[in-house]
This record gives sequence, C-alpha cells and structure tokens, in this order.
Amino acid sequence: MIWITLIVITSIIFIFILDSLRLKITPTPSSKKVRQKILEILPKGVDGPIYELGSGFGQMTLDLAKHFSGHPIKSYERATVPYLVQRLLLFFYRPQNAKLLFEDFMKKDSSDAGLIFCYLYREIMPRLALKIEKSTTKKVWVISHTFAIENWTPVKIIYANDLYHTPIYLYQINPRTEKSPN
Ligand SMILES: C[S@@+](CC[C@H](N)C(=O)[O-])C[C@H]1O[C@@H](n2cnc3c(N)ncnc32)[C@H](O)[C@@H]1O
Repeated sequence: MIWITLIVITSIIFIFILDSLRLKITPTPSSKKVRQKILEILPKGVDGPIYELGSGFGQMTLDLAKHFSGHPIKSYERATVPYLVQRLLLFFYRPQNAKLLFEDFMKKDSSDAGLIFCYLYREIMPRLALKIEKSTTKKVWVISHTFAIENWTPVKIIYANDLYHTPIYLYQINPRTEKSPN
C-alpha cells in the first residue's frame, strides 16, 4: 500500500513538473485579494462568452461563473493536475454556466469572446495579443492580471491591496482600430 501511494504521489509530482516546463508556467492561482479586485474591474454588458485562458485550479472560474451567472464561461487549462482539481471543484460547486476544456488556448478559437481573462507570463503576451487582434470580429474586453500588453492602451489599471500592489489591466480591443506592428 505504501508503495502504491508513493508511486501515485511521485507520478503526480512528475506530471506537474513536466506540464510546468512544457507550458513555461506553474499553475499559481490568483490570490483572494487579487480575485476580489478583478471582480471590481469587470465590465458590465459583456457581449459574448467569457474566456479564461489558463484557468489553473479554477477559483477564478468559480468567481466569474458566480458574478456572470447565466453567462457562458469557457475556461482552458492544459496542465493535467490543475485541470483535474478544477474538474473536481466544478463537480462539487456545479456552476451551470462554466465549461472547462483540456486544451491549449493558443490553438483554439476564441473569436466570439466578449471578455477574456488571463494570468499568464510575460513572454506569451505579445503572441496572445496578436491572436486576439487577428481573430476578434467585434469589440472584446481583455483583463490581464500582472502582465501588461505592449502596444495596447488600458482603459483602466487597478492595483490589488496586496504586498506587491499587483496590477490588473483592463483593455477594450477593436481589431480594426488597434493593431500590433507585427
Ligand atoms: C498563473 S496560472 C493562473 C490560473 C488562474 N487563471 C488564476 O488566475 O487563478 C496560469 C495557468 O495557465 C495554464 N496555461 C499556460 N499556458 C496554457 C495554454 N497554452 N493552454 C492552456 N492552459 C495554459 C497553466 O497551466 C496555469 O495553470
């Protein structure tokens, strides 16, 4: 029994490390203070589904599903361990409007998004910005936790009341007026 437990724990750690290396990020959840601030900056009148790109263990997904009750929330998570934890969380809380997908969001279409939320890492932001600009067919709100998007002008920046004064950026992107130079 001890051996089986050890093998399971080692496998989970191994998969966690491999996924973090592959995706270039560990699944660090947004803190409660940051999540509260994000709820304050959420726009009203979102036209289209809400996408959470890299939803980790799912706490932010639950907050979004509650805040926008009845509005479709699609969250993408490609790392196995956080994905499975989030599956469990959604099973217990059963938000009717949240859908979790085990997919790489860079390879999926999100052109119908009304709002995109992400907490990722610096290097991916230019590629993500380009993807949004190219695919979006209408105005879309984008909220980025911590990482600003170069060449985009935020509508608003707010700071969490935490140790790092974590910035949260709100953008509204119209693909026909705001393009990246690439
Ligand atoms: C910093 S965590 C943020 C989790 C959650 N959004 C939150 O705010 O609490 C970023 C997550 O994005 C996931 N991720 C990174 N790149 C991804 C990709 N291309 N497709 C799907 N998920 C990705 C990581 O596995 C990680 O769980």
